[in-house]
Amino acid sequence: MTREEMYRDLIARAEALLDGETRPMPCMANICALIKEAFGFFWVGFYVVDGDELVLGPFQGPVACMTIKKGRGVCGAAWERAQTIVVDDVELFPGHIACNPLSRSEIVVPVMSDGRVVAVLDIDHSEPGAFDDTDRRYLERLMCLPFSGRIGEIYR
Ligand code: SME
Repeated sequence: MTREEMYRDLIARAEALLDGETRPMPCMANICALIKEAFGFFWVGFYVVDGDELVLGPFQGPVACMTIKKGRGVCGAAWERAQTIVVDDVELFPGHIACNPLSRSEIVVPVMSDGRVVAVLDIDHSEPGAFDDTDRRYLERLMCLPFSGRIGEIYR
């Protein structure tokens, strides 16, 4: 399968799996599992906006930083800019937060609700340059989550 076919398959599986469930936690947890299972990425997880920081949400992979301030690291920058950031070499990204030294490249995709970032999806790879525009396009599509309006409930 090409990478595009893998993503199309992943999105179809996610839609089928999440159909009828609008509570964010189980959906986000299974999205992480689906992505990790399909691609074997080093780390896949969500950080959820809570006030002025991101808080670790459902994830698959090694232990990670639990809070990230707005504008800090790749995740905080993607939140501040409200746009996807692809980092080919994490060592060259100013302020990159090294939760794990084995992470070499990264993509962070914001999850939007009513024009505001409510969470970010962070994916790390153990090789540099692992993500490109194909990943960005399909992950942005995947992050149009039908339950995004409820993500704010997690920390209420
Ligand atoms: N590297 C991220 C922090 C999160 S971990 O990679 C799981 C960053 O710079 O925002």
